[in-house]
Amino acid sequence: MTRILAIETSCDETACAVLEDGRALLASVIASQMDIHARYGGVFPEVASRQHVLSITPVIEQTLARAGLTLAEVDAIAATRGPGLAGSLVVGLNAAKGLALGSGKPLIGVNHLEGHIYSAWLHEANQQNPPPAPQFPLLALLVSGGHTELNLMRNHLDYQRLGATRDDAAGEAFDKVARLLGLPYPGGPAIEIAARQGNAQAFNFPRAWLDDSLNFSFSGLKTAVLREVRRLEAEKQPLPIADLAASFQAAVIDVLFTKTLQAARQHQVKEIVIGGGVSANQALRAAFLGQNEFKLHIPPLKYCTDNAAMIAAAGYYRYSLGHLAPLAIDVLPTWPLS
Ligand SMILES: Nc1ncnc2c1ncn2[C@@H]1O[C@H](COP(=O)(O)OP(=O)(O)OP(=O)(O)O)[C@@H](O)[C@H]1O
Ligand SMILES: [Mg+2]
Repeated sequence: MTRILAIETSCDETACAVLEDGRALLASVIASQMDIHARYGGVFPEVASRQHVLSITPVIEQTLARAGLTLAEVDAIAATRGPGLAGSLVVGLNAAKGLALGSGKPLIGVNHLEGHIYSAWLHEANQQNPPPAPQFPLLALLVSGGHTELNLMRNHLDYQRLGATRDDAAGEAFDKVARLLGLPYPGGPAIEIAARQGNAQAFNFPRAWLDDSLNFSFSGLKTAVLREVRRLEAEKQPLPIADLAASFQAAVIDVLFTKTLQAARQHQVKEIVIGGGVSANQALRAAFLGQNEFKLHIPPLKYCTDNAAMIAAAGYYRYSLGHLAPLAIDVLPTWPLS
C-alpha cells in the first residue's frame, strides 16, 4: 500500500490530502479564499500567496489528523509545481520540501492539469462501489478557469495535446460573462444557477467551430453576449439574465461536447474523462451523460474545482513510475501538460 500526502496552492485554495494507492481518499482539507477575492471580483495574487502562508500549516495538520496518520506513515510528499500563480505555488512547494526534508520522504512535483484529469477516478476510502480504473487510450477534456484542452492519453502520465483554446478558457468565459451580466464571482456557478430559469434558445450565440479543428475559441462568444447586453441596454429594455445565461451556457457546452466526441471518434478511445472546474456544470455533465458511445468519467462534484486529492492521485502515478523530484526544484507557473 502506498500513501501520498499532497499539497495544492496553485491559485486561491490552500489544500492538502492523503490518498491510498492513487484513488482511495483518506482525508482532504481545503481552505478557500473565495470570500476574500470575491471583494475584488477575481483572484488578487499577492493576497492569495500571503493567505496560503497563513493557512498551509493548519491545513496540513488537519489533514493528517483526519486521516489518523503521522507523517512517518506516508510514503511520499507531492505538491503542485505549476501551472498557476508563482507566489502561490511557492508556498505549497516549499511546505512540501520542508515536510520531505524533515521526514526523509521523497518529493514529487505534480502538474496541476494532470491533477484535474486524475480527479475523475477518486473515491472515498470506504466507498462501496468505487469507479473502475482508467482504461487507455482515453481522451481527457480539461475545462477549468485557466485552461481548455483535449489530451489523448495512451498510458499514465502520457499526454498528447490534440487541441486547446486559442483565447479564453471556458471557465474564464463563464467568469467574464457573469461579470457582464452583473452576477457574482465566481461566475461559473452563478451562470449555471441563472440558466436554470432561462431559455437556451432565446439568443442564437455563435459557436466557433474553427474549421473542424480540435481547438477552441470563446472570446467571440463573450463579445457576442456583450453586444447583446449593450443593445438591450440602449433600448432601455430589462436584461433577460436567465435567457442570456442559458443561451451562453448552451453555446459553450455545444462546442465542448461536439469537439470532444469528434476527437474521441478520430482516436478511437476507450473512454472520455472530463476534469477542471467547469466539469462541475450540471448541463455539461448532462450533455456527456446523454451519450452512450463512450464510457465516461467525471469527477464527483467536490473534486471538480481545485483540491489536493487530485494532486495526490497524479502524484501516486509519478511515484510509482519513479518520477521523483530533487529538493532543489523551482515552481513552473506556465508548465504545459504535453
Ligand atoms: N458549475 C459551474 N459551471 C461552469 N463553470 C464553473 C462551475 N463551477 C466552477 N466553474 C468555473 O471553473 C473555474 C475554476 O475551476 P478551477 O479551479 O479548476 O480553475 P483554476 O484552478 O482557476 O484554473 P486552472 O485549473 O486552469 O489553473 C472558474 O472559472 C469557475 O467559474
Ligand atoms: Mg484548477
